[in-house]
Amino acid sequence: MRGKDCRRLGSETESMSDLTGRRIIVTGGASGMGAGLVRALPEMGASVVSLDVEESVGGKIAAEAGATFVRCDVSDEQSVTAAFDAAVDVMGGLDVLVHLAGIAPTATAIETDADLWDRVMRINARGTFLTNQAAFRHLKGHGGRIIDFASGAGMNGYPRKGAYAASKGAVLAWVRTCAVEWGPFGISVNAVSPMIWTPMYDKTRSEMTPEQLSAHDEMMARTIPMGGRLGDVRKDLVPVIAFLAGEGSGFMTGQTFVVDGGRIMTR
Ligand SMILES: NC(=O)c1ccc[n+]([C@@H]2O[C@H](COP(=O)([O-])OP(=O)(O)OC[C@H]3O[C@@H](n4cnc5c(N)ncnc54)[C@H](O)[C@@H]3O)[C@@H](O)[C@H]2O)c1
Repeated sequence: MRGKDCRRLGSETESMSDLTGRRIIVTGGASGMGAGLVRALPEMGASVVSLDVEESVGGKIAAEAGATFVRCDVSDEQSVTAAFDAAVDVMGGLDVLVHLAGIAPTATAIETDADLWDRVMRINARGTFLTNQAAFRHLKGHGGRIIDFASGAGMNGYPRKGAYAASKGAVLAWVRTCAVEWGPFGISVNAVSPMIWTPMYDKTRSEMTPEQLSAHDEMMARTIPMGGRLGDVRKDLVPVIAFLAGEGSGFMTGQTFVVDGGRIMTR
């Protein structure tokens, strides 16, 4: 390729990952991957509104990042509608939803009681349904991106996390359905299935016995080809979301992007 052509390709490639002017809602912005995205996306030029139930931590992270925080319980319809309206007001519209808010309590299948099941389904499955519908209402006139967070648990199952696994299976089926229904509006709907070291993973680790933990670490070392442990938010997740939120991913929808160092492949 001649020098001039190379330069043109370079600048087109840069604009594909440029988020300047992109208006993005991040749910779950008070912790883990959501917090990492609230910190990183404004650095790429995006306007960001962070939604979470954890107001004090979420507000502090957003303020430090130059983002806006709005309290929102993703399982509550009124709260979601009000928070999305407020976010759209602040940013002058919406282009992207990155929906991460979720919980992952531990219980074996037989120990899972109906209250735990309902709580997990309410936050993870109903929360995805409500936030995605709210986003659709603001995106349908001009198109955009919805990026939901699934899990390997929703594909392969996950011992001691049955309700969580079921809720993430629901997320995957919902994502594929919305991808078909909302594609004609120019809205792509995709799922990310991550394995990234966050407070959620720290909590899961803290619920293991020492024997379970050492078996778990040994299994991770054996089954994650890229580094033998969970990934890093900033290094391993942020660039993937920047791509999915940007112009360059517009012809991909209904997919599950697995960001797990190759773990699912080795199971
Ligand atoms: N960490 C991983 O490796 C991993 C693996 C698979 C899937 N996921 C999924 O990725 C997403 C983010 O995970 P994380 O590890 O960053 O978790 P995290 O626990 O660090 O953060 C989750 C955030 O969601 C918020 N939240 C919980 N309930 C809420 C509600 N009702 N309304 C609004 N906010 C609420 C919490 O306050 C918290 O800030 C989750 O959906 C999780 O299931 C994570």
